[in-house]
Amino acid sequence: MKKILVTGGTGFIGSHTVVELQQEGYEVIIVDNFSNSSIDVLDNITRITGIKPAFEEFDLSDRIKTADFFRRNKDIEGIIHFAAFKAVGESMEKPIEYYQNNVVSLLNILENMKAYGIRDMVFSSSCTVYGQPDELPVTEQAPIKQAWSPYGNTKQMCEEILSFTTSALPIRTIALRYFNPIGAHESALIGELPLGVPNNLVPFITQTAIGLRKVLSVFGDDYNTPDGTAIRDYIHVVDIAKAHVVAIQRMIGEKGKSDLEIFNLGTGNGSSVLEVIQSFERVSGEKLNYQIKPRRPGDVEKVWADTRFANEELGWKAELGMDEMMASAWKWEKALASKK
Ligand code: WQD
Repeated sequence: MKKILVTGGTGFIGSHTVVELQQEGYEVIIVDNFSNSSIDVLDNITRITGIKPAFEEFDLSDRIKTADFFRRNKDIEGIIHFAAFKAVGESMEKPIEYYQNNVVSLLNILENMKAYGIRDMVFSSSCTVYGQPDELPVTEQAPIKQAWSPYGNTKQMCEEILSFTTSALPIRTIALRYFNPIGAHESALIGELPLGVPNNLVPFITQTAIGLRKVLSVFGDDYNTPDGTAIRDYIHVVDIAKAHVVAIQRMIGEKGKSDLEIFNLGTGNGSSVLEVIQSFERVSGEKLNYQIKPRRPGDVEKVWADTRFANEELGWKAELGMDEMMASAWKWEKALASKK
């Protein structure tokens, strides 16, 4: 059974990917430091798949601990690297922590891939590397623009590090640029864990509807879009998770063509904030309390993916639509409330 290291495997996308990997027959070992997740996720993954993933808790930006881990786990056949800080707004206030955590962790992993001859890694990247694209839908060939935040800059830096490292060493990487992952596993046992006030739109919608928040602020209705609110490419987190299994299979199965391949993970459809709210109201039967507020600094106006390369070359396509995404997010929020 092939052993895959999933860093950040108790996080939102990481936990959903562990479930898909286990269900595809992979042995999984998770490394996480719970900076943005909870150890309960391990039990919930086990309840879904019946298999408790191996697990170690330490910070991957610690060079000594990371080297010690790899020395004890030489049988790792592939790595999926999620572990990183990921809040755009927070990164504006804590740039040094973002560079320290996101970049040094990657360097420590690469150093050990070289030391132990581990060849394949899937890297968690982001559509934030595009900034506001000149053309839409945005393809993987679009120019990388000046980052709008330290978070986006760390993703750009990591992709550049991977580009040079994979051409110099026997290392191959597939970088997956996520658009806006939302929703939750159908079991409602795992989902987007709400630690503090959510930055992202969908958890704020469901927390407002369940009564944890008074009102949703819609950041701007004066954009150059059909209804004036900003547009994003929202994609179900399970579709994102499945793409990671396809990417690992591509490399372990020797199909990967080059040292670094980059794929957009989106649906190809753009949805405005108001359209997301309308979808939520449709699937939940709840009337959402929201107010139009000024634009949020750092937000781009509109972005959605050209998915042809991922569909044709990677052989993966998003299957779930907006209503299914919002229904799963609402089911997850209600499951969280029932545990209180
Ligand atoms: C979406 C839209 C807001 C909250 C995220 C991740 C980033 C990257 C891309 C992975 C915007 C509006 C939001 C609210 C609102 N993903 N909004 N009221 O900014 O696109 O970035 O996806 O790497 O890491 O953070 O997502 O959900 O914050 O915002 O009106 O209370 O919803 O203005 O137009 P964003 P988001």
